[in-house]
Amino acid sequence: MDGREIIRHCRLLAEQTEEPGHITRTYLSPPMHAVHRMVRGCMEAAGMATRIDAVGNLRGVYGRGPRLMIGSHLDTVPHSGAFDGILGVMIAIALVDRQPPCAVEVAAFAEEEGARFGVPFIGSRALVGSPVMDERVLAAIREFGLDPAGIPEALLDPEVKAYLEFHIEQGPVLENLGLPLGVVEAIAGQSRWEIRFEGKANHAGTTPMDVRRDALACAAEWIGMVEHVARTTSGLVATVGTIEALPGAGNVIPGTAIASLDVRHASDEVRERALNLLLNGAEHIAHGRGLTVTGEARLDQPAVALYFETVEQAVQSAGFPVHRMVSGAGHDAMILARKIPASMLFLRSPGGISHHPDESVAAEDVDAALAVGADLLRAWSPA
Ligand code: GLV
Ligand code: MN
Ligand code: MN
Repeated sequence: MDGREIIRHCRLLAEQTEEPGHITRTYLSPPMHAVHRMVRGCMEAAGMATRIDAVGNLRGVYGRGPRLMIGSHLDTVPHSGAFDGILGVMIAIALVDRQPPCAVEVAAFAEEEGARFGVPFIGSRALVGSPVMDERVLAAIREFGLDPAGIPEALLDPEVKAYLEFHIEQGPVLENLGLPLGVVEAIAGQSRWEIRFEGKANHAGTTPMDVRRDALACAAEWIGMVEHVARTTSGLVATVGTIEALPGAGNVIPGTAIASLDVRHASDEVRERALNLLLNGAEHIAHGRGLTVTGEARLDQPAVALYFETVEQAVQSAGFPVHRMVSGAGHDAMILARKIPASMLFLRSPGGISHHPDESVAAEDVDAALAVGADLLRAWSPA
């Protein structure tokens, strides 16, 4: 498989979706069965022994003895593009297809985005011994036909000595520099929360404005604060990506509003300070309006430094300029880094667009990543 062929496969896999007309494939949703079948076929054709572990990760092992794991994820955000995650899986398979001199395990993670349950990294967390044991997740595992009792067997095999991930950049930096590839030296930390504002539902026509306890209006005021804090804190990004108003009717004042909160920064200290400010702000705004607010953490993931020397050497030996960068997006590499040295290589994202159907990648850039990967596998030895 070359770059063109990999892109063709990614577009074919993108047809497996929960929502016709869009690319939406959340954790263990029905189309994941077909994706497993298709990707598994590619793995086996490349000479790997395959299995699906108890959280739904598809894993293929090539060769024997100490090995390098190469992986990324198969799930998507709603209305996503065709390359976030799955491109890294297909590049890994293409590298194995070239019969490298070292043993390799390809990990196609079942979940990274957190779209279905608000909890990201369900796939990779099972490998590092910190599986997500939320009842809803366990029910989804059973519904997909897997058995949560097997979760301990999803753990990383001790023969896996390091992790490597190929991923689109999902931002404009490489394109602006005119570079096909970037070496990731660190991944920003992220906090994800669910914030619940409780007011009182009442009749939209008969309840005077001054006695209302409108949970959605309260959340809206707080969302303005979230944006303001992020805009005025250097390097901070903060997003309210979902909001649900209940009971959810045009003629009923919302009694409950449930919002997501995603806060990221390369410095954990700045992120934690901003998060506390936003949680206290929610409290303050709710109190001032006679409402209550509760928050529940879904993820507290510190920033992670990656190993970059080996990737950097491979980029150089394949004849490409080296550019080091920090990833604002989260990746499975930041979870694997808890146990083994983890590295990442970014591929240029045309237009800097991702988490959007217009997401793309150039075949020449995929070929460049393959050349780097092949050099890296030629030189790799388990330390
Ligand atoms: C993954 O795409 C993330 O949200 O960082
Ligand atoms: Mn991704
Ligand atoms: Mn993503």
